[in-house]
Amino acid sequence: MKKVLVFMMAVLMLAALAVAGCGGSDEKEAGGEKIMRVGTEPSFAPFEMQAEGSEELTGFDMDLIRAIGKHLGYKVEISAMGFDALIPALQADNIDVALAGMSITEERKQQVIFSDPYYKSGLLVMVPKDNNDIKSIDDLKGKRIAVQIGTTGAFRAEKVEGAKVTAFNDNGSAVLEMKNGAADAVINDAPVLKYFLAQGGSEYAKTVGEVLNAEDYGIAVKKGNDKLAAEINKALNDLKANGEFDKIYNKWFGEAK
Ligand code: ARG
Repeated sequence: MKKVLVFMMAVLMLAALAVAGCGGSDEKEAGGEKIMRVGTEPSFAPFEMQAEGSEELTGFDMDLIRAIGKHLGYKVEISAMGFDALIPALQADNIDVALAGMSITEERKQQVIFSDPYYKSGLLVMVPKDNNDIKSIDDLKGKRIAVQIGTTGAFRAEKVEGAKVTAFNDNGSAVLEMKNGAADAVINDAPVLKYFLAQGGSEYAKTVGEVLNAEDYGIAVKKGNDKLAAEINKALNDLKANGEFDKIYNKWFGEAK
């Protein structure tokens, strides 16, 4: 009788272990810890950037995903890659989440699932401070435009008639191209250009014209991973309800909202 009991207990324990193991079939677990592998491209302050004097990535997106991970019980592991490598990395299952100030577009929606929008953005044109000829995107015809590869700013620049568009791997290089006189303008996201100007860029650069097409940022996951997308949306809602989202927002963008 005793032997049977011990045997049955062992079977039950094995079953329990198996169930626990299956709990999140698509979650990466290490030592019982749920891991969320996040990819970003960190030349996009104040959303993602290298913290000064440290290996850490910092910024609004980084704080947000760490808060989301914490809320959902994931250990968040962030790695940096090219912006144009993010969607392929999701599709290849090398990362679980792409978070990089990525605008929700129809084209991208064919390739990934986006969370609910978490930030309202749009594109702006930046030119050298002493340039008085370029007053809006309409004045960029035939001009040299520097952009970051794979971004909506790059796609918008490609549509400008006769423009010579140079795409760089990171935003810093696009700005440098303009600073060096090798490009007439940069097209990039409005909050990133505004932050850049406020951080000292206004010494030699300025933005012109209105914010172009409105764009919403979303957190991207692999197609088919509806479970994680739903979890992220729930976390976004919870963090908005409990004030955590506003706290992070205000830390990076001030009170105005
Ligand atoms: N919002 C733009 C886009 O989705 C630019 C994003 C660039 N992000 C970055 N981390 N470099 O194309």
